[in-house]
Amino acid sequence: MSDITISLGNNDTNTRQDATSDFISFWEKQAKNLSWFSSWDKTLDWNPPFAKWFVGGKINASYNTLDIHQKIKSDKPAILWEGENGESRILTYEDLWTRVQKLANALKSIGVQKGDRITIYLPMIPELPISMLACARIGATHSVVFSGFSATAIKDRIDDSKSKVVITADGGYRRGNVINLKEIIDEAIKDLDFVKNVIVVERTKTKLRLSSKDILWNDLIHDSYDLCIAEKLDSSHPLFILYTSGTTGKPKGVLHGTGGYLTHLYSTFKWAFDIKDSDVYFCTADIGWVTGHSYVVYGPLLHGATQVMYEGAPDFPDASRMWEIIQKYRITIFYTTPTALRMFMKFGDDLPNSFDLSSLRLLGSVGEPINPEVWKWYFKIIGKEKCPIIDTWWQTETGGMMISALPGLETIPLKPGSGTLPIPGIHISVVDEVGNELPPNTKGYLVIKNPWPGMLLTLWGDDQKYRDVYWSKYKNYYYSGDYALKDTDGYFWLLGRADDVLKVSGHRIGTAELESCIVSHHDVAESAACGIPDEIKGEVIIVFVVLKQNATTDTATLEKELIVKIRNDIGAIATPKQIYFVTRLPKTRSGKIMRRLLKAISSNETIGDVSTLEDDIAVSEIQSAFEELQKSIQKKP
Ligand code: PRX
Repeated sequence: MSDITISLGNNDTNTRQDATSDFISFWEKQAKNLSWFSSWDKTLDWNPPFAKWFVGGKINASYNTLDIHQKIKSDKPAILWEGENGESRILTYEDLWTRVQKLANALKSIGVQKGDRITIYLPMIPELPISMLACARIGATHSVVFSGFSATAIKDRIDDSKSKVVITADGGYRRGNVINLKEIIDEAIKDLDFVKNVIVVERTKTKLRLSSKDILWNDLIHDSYDLCIAEKLDSSHPLFILYTSGTTGKPKGVLHGTGGYLTHLYSTFKWAFDIKDSDVYFCTADIGWVTGHSYVVYGPLLHGATQVMYEGAPDFPDASRMWEIIQKYRITIFYTTPTALRMFMKFGDDLPNSFDLSSLRLLGSVGEPINPEVWKWYFKIIGKEKCPIIDTWWQTETGGMMISALPGLETIPLKPGSGTLPIPGIHISVVDEVGNELPPNTKGYLVIKNPWPGMLLTLWGDDQKYRDVYWSKYKNYYYSGDYALKDTDGYFWLLGRADDVLKVSGHRIGTAELESCIVSHHDVAESAACGIPDEIKGEVIIVFVVLKQNATTDTATLEKELIVKIRNDIGAIATPKQIYFVTRLPKTRSGKIMRRLLKAISSNETIGDVSTLEDDIAVSEIQSAFEELQKSIQKKP
């Protein structure tokens, strides 16, 4: 298929020109689309690698997503909620505003103050965005933890952020089953005395054991006053912490501010989705991940958009659920992941073809590289060759989209599998190991050369780690951890992670986190995790384990124990596809595990491929390690 151009009638050449001539003034102009309590004295304070946007400006995220719509859009549905079991709820902008204010006052009544952190562990129900916006209203920093994480993973996150309040539910539905979220929280906080209160939404009506710390959501807000003036917060006031996996140790708390983040979200939501008042938008991401924060909560609500929020799994009760939702709500903009698309594609064309998808006008993809054949299927079968596809590249750390086609701004030819061009005002390059810009069509590392408004402020409580992770490989360039190439038209092609971060079904999992969980088993001496390609999930996890000399457990039992341990310590998303028991792991001379070699072996790649990847290690060394490993692999049933 040749390049595809679909005109939506937008052709604003000025925006890109403005952005190219002076990115700081450009973002200043975009920030004026928001409502500020007071203006800023300085647009950007860049003290590398720390950026403060709109210094001196006062703003509130809840005010910008709710109050500003009350005059003309109070009756407009903000959230069309669809429960996994088919229930539905409609919340207008006024409903949302009232509920947020009631909860904000209720939080104050239990002692929550500006600057406090609140952990939110909720399923995809309207109380989740309400909780986030109530925090934002009073200047508390929310830390949403995906409701699939285990008690240990949540404990680590609550402990790191020192949240004094946790908001959860009795349970959450997942594929027809009820997950008892409150029990998980009880386990997570049992040694965390600084947690003063747990607020419990009754979603599944599961029997609850309440302690003196626990308060039912309905009881808390029952008598709460529904007027709460939004706090006037500094532009860089921390809006949220979102924990994400990296290459080392425990998950890191990515910290985002307010004014810059909202500016980035306002602009990209408008440009990428070409949002109109009449649109019905549907993003399938869970709010527990960054896509949900930015493009379920903040982006659409800043624009007063109507959106569908869906509670359950995309293929529950069967693989037609998404098409049914699109038909039922007359969705116009659909934003999902390549993993979901690959899964839908597997069921053939008849299923989507049997639904009326004619309301769709724009399609999006996020979270992992989209294979060109999947892109074409999405374009043809779902979009009926009339909807542009935006393939949006970004990260938890970037806050919002960084590379994407922008149908709301300009009409450009699309290339299946390419994210196309950087967002205006954002400077991206592909460089080699030492930071030299690479010629077109050459694979290298994707870096960001200038600060941008949605940029993370730092890592929560760890400025040094922030410097080390993102700003130490290159001087003054942000290191993304991704491979990419730029073609002769200046289009970017994302080529996967360059580091030890895995992307399984679009979820980010750190190999270090997984390995430290495995080696904490008493029979394990060493372990190495890597990802190998998978037709549906993009990547799946393979783990190699070296047992201690005195290990007593048989490997079949051990395999089961390790899987239970991973599910308990991290969550089901980190479950490996396969565990191999080996006698030793191949290492470099400096003692580093050669993960790429393991990956090559597990993927049945040739040794030649590996030697080109590992330039710093002698080919002969790889060869012997490879042979040794092949000999020592004894896969257990
Ligand atoms: O490797 C890139 C991949 O997802 C990583 C960021 O993951 P996370 O912080 O969980 O955020 C995901 C949602 C924005 C990136 O470093 N990634 C994200 N979008 C794309 C992508 N890879 C290729 N194409 C994309 N469109």
